[in-house]
Amino acid sequence: MTDISGLRAQLLERIASAEMPREVLKANEIKELYATIPSLPPSERGAFGRAVNDLKTELETAIALRETAMENAAITSIDVTAPWDVNGALPELLPTENGTQHPLTREIENVVDIFTRMGFEAIESRQIDDDYHMFGTLNFPENHPARDGYDTFRTEEGFIPPAHTSTMQHRILERGKAQLENGGQIAAISYGRVFRNEDVDATHEHTFYQCEGVFVSPNATLGEMLGTLRSFFEVYYGQKLKTKTQPGYFPFVEPGLEFAIERPATLGGKPGEWLEMLGCGMIHPNVLREAGIDPVKYRGFAWGGGIDRLIMLKYNIEDIRHLESAKLQFLRKFA
Ligand code: DAH
Repeated sequence: MTDISGLRAQLLERIASAEMPREVLKANEIKELYATIPSLPPSERGAFGRAVNDLKTELETAIALRETAMENAAITSIDVTAPWDVNGALPELLPTENGTQHPLTREIENVVDIFTRMGFEAIESRQIDDDYHMFGTLNFPENHPARDGYDTFRTEEGFIPPAHTSTMQHRILERGKAQLENGGQIAAISYGRVFRNEDVDATHEHTFYQCEGVFVSPNATLGEMLGTLRSFFEVYYGQKLKTKTQPGYFPFVEPGLEFAIERPATLGGKPGEWLEMLGCGMIHPNVLREAGIDPVKYRGFAWGGGIDRLIMLKYNIEDIRHLESAKLQFLRKFA
């Protein structure tokens, strides 16, 4: 007769060390035990069969214990405080590049740099203003048609995203008044974002940048202004330039001028191709007076023009809309 108790010890030992303890139930020795039953004398079959069943139940219990023990061991070897994917495969990283300054930022810094080296103080312009600074301080009479040239937006409360940086003139004049009275002069630029109600196309944007200049002294002249502007453009484009002016109307200057440069051959220009770069002139006595500056004692000149246009000429950019587009294909050219 088969030695059940010897087999029992052997099978329990196998279960205790098996990676897959349930597989032990498939052992040939167990099959053989069952196969033996029919060959036994009928008087022994009952007891033997019960012994085999008891053995099976005991093995099942041992298997269940072994399985639970193995599960617990697996759980305690996991660091449950670790980041969830610490053991997982790392995701493939996205391609990265170093960021660079936006061409507008970089060129505004260039412009500011040139004027500060000439002795001008630089002030960023406001992006929300009021009717008084947009028109009133700049000698635009109420309901005057000249206001139409500066069609911009308005909030329901009557605030204005300014259409030009000239809105900063009055503030610059008021702030510099004491300096002027102490024998100094006012020399400041204001640069920043401006807004117009435009039909947008390759040369017109609703949002763009301007730089404004203001200079006041007891004897400022138009000649000084033209020299200042010419120096600026020559430094900015790194070469000698031909410049010219023609009369232009702006309510806040008298006389008012439009200042043009000849497009240099190195920037794709043909002789006689003039580009109007900005408006300028001698500050109107009403503008000085509104800021409390006596126009008999002091004179000033002012100018204002688009920065986007400066950049477009420098880099041969064909469409102003690229500058506000955030297109990487465009921006990478300035990396
Ligand atoms: N603010 C004018 C514009 O945006 C430009 C301008 C003209 C500014 C004459 C000035 C100036 O300071 O004197 O069209």
